Amino acid sequence: MTLPAERIAELRKSLHDHNHRYYVLAEPVISDREYDALLEELAALEAAHPEFDDSDSPTRRVGGAPIDGFVTRPHAVPMISLANSYNIADVMAYDQRTRKLLGDQPFSYVVEPKIDGVAVSLRYENGQLVQALSRGDGREGDDLTQNIRTLHSVPLRLRTDTPPEVLEVRGEVYMTRTGFQKLNLERQNAGQNVFANPRNAAAGSLKLLDSRTVAQRPLDAIWYGVGETRGIGFDTHLDLLNTLKDLGFRTPGLTWTCQSAAELEHALLDLQNQKNDYPFEMDGAVIKVNERKYYDDLGSTAKSPRWAVAYKYEPEQAETRLLDITVQVGRTGVLTPVAELDPVLVSGSTVSRATLHNWEEMERKDIRIGDTVLIEKAGEIIPAVVRVLPEKRPPDARALPPPTECPACGGPVARREGEVAWRCDNPACPAKGLSRLKHFVSRRCMDIDNVGEELLKALLTEGLIREPADLYRLREQRDALLNLERMAEKSVDNLLTGIENSKDRDLWRLIHALGIPQVGERTAQSLEEHFDTLDALAQATEETLTAIPDIGPIVAKSIISFFALPENSEHIERLREAGLNLLRKEARTETSDGPLSGKTVVITGTLPTLSRDEAKDLLRKLGATVTGSVSSKTDILLAGEDAGSKLAKAQKLGIPVWDEAQLREEI
Ligand code: IVH
Repeated sequence: MTLPAERIAELRKSLHDHNHRYYVLAEPVISDREYDALLEELAALEAAHPEFDDSDSPTRRVGGAPIDGFVTRPHAVPMISLANSYNIADVMAYDQRTRKLLGDQPFSYVVEPKIDGVAVSLRYENGQLVQALSRGDGREGDDLTQNIRTLHSVPLRLRTDTPPEVLEVRGEVYMTRTGFQKLNLERQNAGQNVFANPRNAAAGSLKLLDSRTVAQRPLDAIWYGVGETRGIGFDTHLDLLNTLKDLGFRTPGLTWTCQSAAELEHALLDLQNQKNDYPFEMDGAVIKVNERKYYDDLGSTAKSPRWAVAYKYEPEQAETRLLDITVQVGRTGVLTPVAELDPVLVSGSTVSRATLHNWEEMERKDIRIGDTVLIEKAGEIIPAVVRVLPEKRPPDARALPPPTECPACGGPVARREGEVAWRCDNPACPAKGLSRLKHFVSRRCMDIDNVGEELLKALLTEGLIREPADLYRLREQRDALLNLERMAEKSVDNLLTGIENSKDRDLWRLIHALGIPQVGERTAQSLEEHFDTLDALAQATEETLTAIPDIGPIVAKSIISFFALPENSEHIERLREAGLNLLRKEARTETSDGPLSGKTVVITGTLPTLSRDEAKDLLRKLGATVTGSVSSKTDILLAGEDAGSKLAKAQKLGIPVWDEAQLREEI
C-alpha cells in the first residue's frame, strides 16, 4: 500500500503537470472531471495529514486570509519602461540609431506583442516563488505575492531539477477580453461598478486585499523578460523566451525575428493584422534587439533601455456630443476647461470627460457647447478632444468665454505674462487648497493611506487644515476629528498613523508632492539623485540644475522661482517643523556611524533652546533612534525643564540623563 506521504507527493506532481498543460500550454490530457477528482483526493489527504503541509501544493491556489494592506518593497533591478514609436518612420529612425551604436556588429530584432496589462516582477529563489511585486514607481512596488499565487499560469516552483539561485521573471498580468466582459456582466447584475477596460479590471483585481476573490477573477499572464538573475544567463531574447517556457511560464508565443528595417515593417504589419485574434488587449508591438550581449553597450536613458522600443498603435477615435464645459481649479490656481461628454466607448473604455487644456486651445479648435466632437484615447493617455465636426454644429452651439471670476471662490482671475492659462488669484481659494492637498497625499507623492478627497474636503470645510503641513498637526485635533462624519476611533487612528508614517518617505516623493511646476515624478527622482537634502535643492543654481541630464533651462527656472517664493519656503519650514524628513534616504543612513549610532534616545520636558522636533532632527543626524517612552532599551534620556514621570522612570532604571548642553557637546 502506498504511504500517504508518497501519494501526496505523487498527486502534487501530477496536478502541477496537468495544471501546466492546461493553463500554460493549453494542451490538457485529462478531462476537467478527472483533474477535479485528483485535486479532491489530494485535499482530503492533506486535511488528514497536516504534517505534510506545503504552501506550494496545487490545493493552495484558492487564496488565503485577507490582508490589511500591501507592503512596498524595492525592486532588485529597477523596472523601467520603453520609449515609444508611433509610425514606421520612427521605427526606421530607431533602427538607424541602433545600427550606428552597434557599428558593423551583426544583430537581429525580435518583434512580439505589447500586452496592455499590469507589469509584475516574480522572484524565484532556488526555484521557489518567493515574491511578486507590482511595477509601482519602477524602484519599488507593492508586494502582490498572495494574489499572484492564485494565478494558475504562474509556476509556484520552476519546472527544473537544477534551479538558478535567483531568477526574476517579468511580464504582464491581464484579463482576457471575454473574461472582462463576463466579469462586468456579473458586476452589473449585482449592482456593482463596472470596470472601464480589461487593464483596469486586471489592476483592480490585483489590488484586492482578499486573495480568495482574486482567485475567482479571470486573470492570466505572459512573461517576456527578466530582472535580477544569479546562476542563469541567456544569449539571446529568443533563448530567454524558450528558457522561460521550459521553466513553466507562458511566453508571447508567436514572435518575428527580423534582420532589417524592411523586415521589421513587415512583422509589425503582420502582428497588427492579427491583433484581434489574440484573447487580450494589445496596445502595440515591442521591438527588441535579440542578442543580449549588446544590451550593456546600448545602455539606457533615464527612462528606457536602448535595446528595445515600443511601437504603439494609432489611438482609436470616436464621435460624441459635447454636453457642457465645466471649469476645474488646479493646485496652482490654473483654471482648466473640461469637456463633459455624452459617454462613448473608445479603445475599450467609456469616456465621459476630456480636458480642453486652456481657452486658447479651445478657441483655436473652435470648440462650443453642443458641438459634435472627435475624441481620442490611446492606452494610458488621457482622453482628448481632437477636433470639432463643424458640419454637425447645431445653430444654438455656444462658446464658453474665459472666466471673469474663479468658479470655486468667486475670486479674481488673471493671466501671468507669457502664460496662456487663466488662474484664480485668491491664495485662500478652497478649490486650490483641495487640489494641492490631493496631490500631496496621492500615491505618487507622499502616499498617505486613508486620506481621500471627501475627507480632505471635510477637513478643509471644518478649518482643520489649509495646507499640507497642517496634516501633521492633526494629531492635536483628535476630538475635532472624531466629530467629523463617519470618523470613529479606529478611522482616526488609521488616519493619524498614515500621516505619521509619511514623514519618512523618500525625498523625491516630497519633491514631487511640493507641486513645483514642471516637476513630475521622474524629474523629482532625478533631482533626488543629485541632491542629498531639500535645502541643497532649494539653493541650487541654474547651472547645477541644467547639468543634470533630464533637466533643461525651463524646468531649472521653474524650480528656482518656486524656492524663491517666500510662501513656498515658509511652507517647507512648516513641514520641517512638523518633523518631515527632508534628507535623501541614503543621507539618512550615513548617520548610522554618527557618535550616537545604535543609541535609543527619549526626549522629555522643555529644552532651553531646541524645539522637540529640532532636537529629534539633531539626534537622528547624530545617528540615534528617537522613541517615545522610557524602557530598559532606552540608552539616554534627554531632559529639559518640567520633566515628569519619564525622568523618574529613567532614574529608577539607571539610564543616563542628558541636558541640552551635553547634547551640544556631542556635535
Ligand atoms: S519589455 C525595460 N515586452 O510595456 C522594459 N514590455 O511601455 C522592458 N509591456 O513596462 C519591457 N508587453 O509593462 C516588454 N512584450 C513586452 C511587453 C512589455 C507589455 C509593457 C511593460 C513595460 C511597458 C512599456
